[in-house]
Amino acid sequence: MEKRALLYEGKAKMVYQVDDPDLCLIYFKDSATAFNALKKGEIAEKGAMNNAISAHFFALLAKEGVESHFIRSLSQREMLVRRLEIIKIEVVVRNIVAGSLAKRLGWPEGVVLAEPVIEHYYKDDSLGDPLLNDDHLRVLNLATAAELATITRLSKQVNAVLKHYLETKNILLVDFKLEFGRCLGKIILGDEISPDTCRFWDATTKEKLDKDRFRRDLGQVAEAYREILERLQGGQNSVQG
Ligand code: TMP
Ligand code: ASP
Repeated sequence: MEKRALLYEGKAKMVYQVDDPDLCLIYFKDSATAFNALKKGEIAEKGAMNNAISAHFFALLAKEGVESHFIRSLSQREMLVRRLEIIKIEVVVRNIVAGSLAKRLGWPEGVVLAEPVIEHYYKDDSLGDPLLNDDHLRVLNLATAAELATITRLSKQVNAVLKHYLETKNILLVDFKLEFGRCLGKIILGDEISPDTCRFWDATTKEKLDKDRFRRDLGQVAEAYREILERLQGGQNSVQG
């Protein structure tokens, strides 16, 4: 599958055209950004790890009946996907209080939520991806009411599948961000599912195994991504020493 024109370059990925107009190729970069790209860096081998981790999750979700854009991995850093018309909404699902929800509510990180909290953000870097309420979503008209209902149902299903699966790897799924798109009249999961877009904590030690290590200068960033990949691949349930 030959890469053709570059369609889009984001902060962590590049998207290329391929010969088939219904498909795209995603190239995963090592670049990392935080705080709307105010902080920039590189995480060694992140691209390869996020490609493998995302492929693993998309394959798991497909088995559980959640369709995504993922078709197959092409190389260490390249994934073949269905071409979607991206919906400019970032859906965040939270099981445990962390990050911006801790700030918004004034609650400590680590409080387990009685039920998942779902938030919608406007996918617009120039605005800094602001939080949207239901009225904002309606006036922006980024998706129909029926599409939004589907997105919410799918987001909850993704949460249930990933949360239970990660428990078997001794990992807590704290929160994560999803993006969706339209394809042949259907709503399909897109983007990536990786330590860049999820918070993963070791279930025993509560050690952070995700991009918060980069955002907060905690060190051992690439090691944390590697730990997630190894637990997914190896079925290793052990606790880090
Ligand atoms: P937050 O607590 O900073 O709002 O982040 C919630 C989740 O969304 C967390 O798992 C990280 C993910 N996320 C992204 O994938 N991209 C982003 O730009 C931000 C701000 C968060
Ligand atoms: N990826 C986002 C950015 O650079 C933020 C984040 O993941 O914290 O802005």
